Amino acid sequence: MEARLLSIESAESFAAAVETAAAILRAGEIVAVPTETVYGLAANALDERAVRRIYEAKERPAENPVIVHVASLEMARSTANEWPEAATLLARKFWPGPLTLVLPKAARIPSIVAAGGATVGIRWPAHPFMQALIRACGFPLAAPSANLANQISPTSAAHVWAAMKDRVPLIVDAGPCNVGIESTVLDLTSSPARILRPGMIAREAIREILGEKLSEGTGGDLALKSPGLMKRHYAPRARLAVREWRDDAEAASAAHELGVPLHKVHVLAHERIPRGGLFGKVAVIPQDPEAYARALYDELHRCDAEGAELILVEKLPEGGAWAGLRDRLKRAAASASEP
Ligand code: TXA
Ligand code: MG
Repeated sequence: MEARLLSIESAESFAAAVETAAAILRAGEIVAVPTETVYGLAANALDERAVRRIYEAKERPAENPVIVHVASLEMARSTANEWPEAATLLARKFWPGPLTLVLPKAARIPSIVAAGGATVGIRWPAHPFMQALIRACGFPLAAPSANLANQISPTSAAHVWAAMKDRVPLIVDAGPCNVGIESTVLDLTSSPARILRPGMIAREAIREILGEKLSEGTGGDLALKSPGLMKRHYAPRARLAVREWRDDAEAASAAHELGVPLHKVHVLAHERIPRGGLFGKVAVIPQDPEAYARALYDELHRCDAEGAELILVEKLPEGGAWAGLRDRLKRAAASASEP
């Protein structure tokens, strides 16, 4: 059966969608919901069978834990077994918002949420619908991104629809996501704390709170700690390559070197925009990191929908504000044959 699609443009339709979604979640089913980062696939985080439905719908490997979404500090604390001072400081600064804190798991969180591990990822999302829904339910919501495993996260209801329409009873449409890439995941169970997945809350901002208690780099063993770090995780169907070019000729020769005819190449450029007609398509993505993040996944979804063979992405600037975006492009570019 095809999913119901509800939009929330008026106060009445917002309230009605909260009620409809909450009823489905109370019954142990799953719902696709908007958050400020990407759309999520939500279930009652305290109900093991409901969470299992998420894994089934996404075809997600059992070893990849899901984030628990809360709507208050009290609810956050009730999902964790320990609540260090650092969590309080980070929550005060960044919640509600795109930061996930990994902490020791409370016993009431079923093991499937943590993929059998001892920790839980907790996030208080900023999106008003998500907050209203969690409050209406009265329980935290487990929610990974609402895409099939290893595909690009959805940043619009249309993306969710394309991937999940036969797999969920309800999709709530709140328009495009405001952040556009997944939350920063910060592990507070290690000392020093480590960023497991960079995002739009940058290392520098976290460092202002944690100082020396934040580790410098992300090590190679982290893929095991957080499967979202598996190399090819946020991947379009098309090949993706990141290159630098000074002019159209250099951009074209980058495509030639990869063996793809120019009309099958879609370019994402932010600074040196190739002239029209040279490639299959040229999309101009905004120059500042926040706007770039909002646009990126929609462009990748579009390239796939239009049958691009190669997505040629102009190299991003240096600097911490771009780190989450560089990370996603690097993963999307990792070839399928790599682990
Ligand atoms: O912005 C987001 O985080 C979105 C929205 C829906 O909130 N969610 C999201 O979920 O991106 P997902 O499941 O696609 O990615 C969650 C990431 C994965 O890399 C997972 O391995 C990691 O967080 N993660 C979750 N719980 C963890 C834990 N206990 N320890 C380490 N990593 C964890
Ligand atoms: Mg995901």
